[in-house]
Amino acid sequence: MKKSVSFLFAFCTLLMTAAQFTPNYDEHKVPDFQLPDPLTTFRGEKITSSKKWIEKRRPELLKFFGNQVYGQVPDKLDSISFALIEQHGVALNGGAIRKQVEVTLSNNKKHLRFHMLIYLPKDIPKAPLFLGYNFHGNHTITADPKVIITKAWNINNDELGITENIATESSRGKLANRWALEKIIKSGFGLATIFYGEIDPDKNDFTDGIHSLFYTNDQARPDSDQWGSIAAWAFGLSRAMDYLVEDPQIGKVLVFGHSRLGKAALWAGATDDRFAAVISNNSGCGGAALSKRKYGETIGRINDFFPHWFCDNFKAFNENEEALPVDQHELLALIAPRPLYVASAVEDKWSDPTGEFLGAYYATPVYNLFGKEGITSKNSPEINKPIQHTVSYHLREGGHDVTAYDWEQYVRWAKKFLN
Ligand code: GCU
Repeated sequence: MKKSVSFLFAFCTLLMTAAQFTPNYDEHKVPDFQLPDPLTTFRGEKITSSKKWIEKRRPELLKFFGNQVYGQVPDKLDSISFALIEQHGVALNGGAIRKQVEVTLSNNKKHLRFHMLIYLPKDIPKAPLFLGYNFHGNHTITADPKVIITKAWNINNDELGITENIATESSRGKLANRWALEKIIKSGFGLATIFYGEIDPDKNDFTDGIHSLFYTNDQARPDSDQWGSIAAWAFGLSRAMDYLVEDPQIGKVLVFGHSRLGKAALWAGATDDRFAAVISNNSGCGGAALSKRKYGETIGRINDFFPHWFCDNFKAFNENEEALPVDQHELLALIAPRPLYVASAVEDKWSDPTGEFLGAYYATPVYNLFGKEGITSKNSPEINKPIQHTVSYHLREGGHDVTAYDWEQYVRWAKKFLN
């Protein structure tokens, strides 16, 4: 088949699959499903103590999610280095310190660079800090004219004026409403952010981004149990953490993410216990929501539309959720006993708010083993009535987004539970 014909064929198949998929939004049509017990091993052994959880159950779950869902990172880097490329002691009208750090990852004589923008409250030694990816570049989260514009491949977005897959000055500050920067700083927290496309551009192409640094021989894409983009983004968060733990001005780090980047934050929190707390904002399918409910986005649909997000092994569960020996509550449980916040929005049905709530609810028994409190009622709380314990949850009014309301809850909770 000629290249253009085969491309047309692939495109039509994608359209047909898309057309065939009708999400279920009817609670009555949620199937009866058997949820795996986080406190019973794959071989049927009951887990009755935190010690047994850590020694037996946690490692086997981590391995399963690594091999069959997100994919494993193939190896360690040869080296990582940091360069402080810009800093200012009186940013944001004097209330904050700004730093811009370039991180260079090197492997097999190849290099990848990403840029972290950091704001810290002045006069707070070792400030706790929220770390989270942004969708279109560090310069989009604030109007601060000194923030460097990313040169990495960007998803086009008319509203932001990104048309040639490259960000320009026109998008500066355009997504500031998603980052309650002033509030975060005034509350005594720092904020660090990275453009996720600098780690791996969000397209079904494994020749660019971090993956290619790890290829052996003539490998052109990850093996079926190796990392997709979500695991790559999680890896990037850990490399950012390599810097943050060395910076004497920075204290504990909470990893945060919205939507696909919430999925990445959860996997980062599960794989790297240097993250002191984890926040999942509207992370949905492959994030906090239970897959076996098949409500809103499903495994088959996410793998069709985003074939590069998970490892290839995960495709075995397309329209086959019953066969999955785990579910996402067990991903959440991997974060125990560290504080975990799952947040939903009532109109964001695609992400299955009830499934996200139940994810947190069914992760709670693992937290209880450590003497930590989680979600005790199986009924989702009312809109805008957060439940805040070590495991927290809120259902906000409105749609798929990160709002000032969300940040207000995260800051309030972090002050109480980040110990
Ligand atoms: C799509 C995708 C979701 C994802 C979301 C986002 O809607 O289907 O899984 O969470 O994009 O990242 O905004």
